[in-house]
Amino acid sequence: MLQIAVPKESAAHENRVALSPVATSQLIKNEHKVLIEKGAGEASNFLDQDYTDAGATIAKNRKDLFSQADLVLAVQTPSDDDLSLMKKGSTLICFLWALQHPELVKKLISLGITALGMDAIPRISRAQNMDALSSMSSIAGYKSALMAASELDKYFPMMMTAAGTIPPSKALIMGAGVAGLQAIATCRKLGAVVEAYDVRPAVKEQVESLGANFVEVPLEEVSTETKGGYAKELSNDAQERQRQIMHEHVKKSDVVITTALVPGKPAPLLITEEMVADMQAGSVIIDLAAENGGNCALTKAGKTIIKHGVKIVGPINIPSQLSSHASLLYAKNMLALLKLLIKDGELEFDMDDEIILNTTITKDGEIISPIMQTN
Ligand code: NAI
Repeated sequence: MLQIAVPKESAAHENRVALSPVATSQLIKNEHKVLIEKGAGEASNFLDQDYTDAGATIAKNRKDLFSQADLVLAVQTPSDDDLSLMKKGSTLICFLWALQHPELVKKLISLGITALGMDAIPRISRAQNMDALSSMSSIAGYKSALMAASELDKYFPMMMTAAGTIPPSKALIMGAGVAGLQAIATCRKLGAVVEAYDVRPAVKEQVESLGANFVEVPLEEVSTETKGGYAKELSNDAQERQRQIMHEHVKKSDVVITTALVPGKPAPLLITEEMVADMQAGSVIIDLAAENGGNCALTKAGKTIIKHGVKIVGPINIPSQLSSHASLLYAKNMLALLKLLIKDGELEFDMDDEIILNTTITKDGEIISPIMQTN
């Protein structure tokens, strides 16, 4: 039996919560105790009463919550003050982005906290139901299409009206990973004509199966994809060639949604100011890579700006804008991981299991995950 604690998220713009009432009742059914911070689910529209109905207890205060827990479940990494309250040997599961935060890793080691990163779950078939990066990216992709439709001063679909026929808007999606594919699907459902581009040629078929056109950019690079299925960073020459070809496509698009990321590197620059200046006034760019430096040279993270008559939106933490479903899905991802981790009511770290090994960043004062050795 574990004492599981769920804090109210304290980061700015964070409306999600790590456990939904439904997920809470599952854990209680398995005879664990769940302690929730007052108001933890409010921003996702889960009330304290929903959690108590599911069998959870509302913590007296934040200090009690962190200090009593065997296992803390969160979305974002709790603050240093919160971590310092945790028992030595207790476990934390949340987004850690450990490679980017070496100081945090040192802190977790010094406090003797076992920390698992939801962002470190391998992208393999067996881990699909735990893959929070995918569930959150999918939400971001969906919402980016809705944002584009609402920012654009045109219809997305073709409209045949008594006053005349309006042609459909043209949307270009750059980066067709999980978020990009969902953006394509949503733009198509809204009736836009869609084309898409990705540096990994393998996605051509997926793009076309969604009814979008795939833009080909022949590159000399032997391979643009890592063994793990992620994109590689391109040489300067290849990036230049990519931009030359994409310039023509960007220019004729009403909407451009960019989602391109390369793990551990700043987001690749896909749209230069020159390209923006060539777009029609009133066009819209939604840059999902805004938090990682942006795919457009003019993007300002967290802001919407207008430059050369083009609206450039740099949203941050989009999943929080769909907090109810984002929290529901995140909690399901969390439950799937816990199913693998908990044996006979206790946490058991089977390091022969690829998922557990990769996800466990620190344990017993040491760095465990091989992902920490790649850089
Ligand atoms: P991501 O968020 O790291 O990147 C988004 C997209 O940007 C990727 O498709 C990438 O190829 C593309 N990109 C990078 N540099 C670019 C450039 N210069 N120009 C154009 N596009 C560029 O990727 P995400 O969505 O997290 O997916 C990563 C990989 O993992 C994909 O191959 C995906 O299919 C795979 N995956 C596998 C899963 C599984 O088997 N369980 C689950 C989820 C994803």
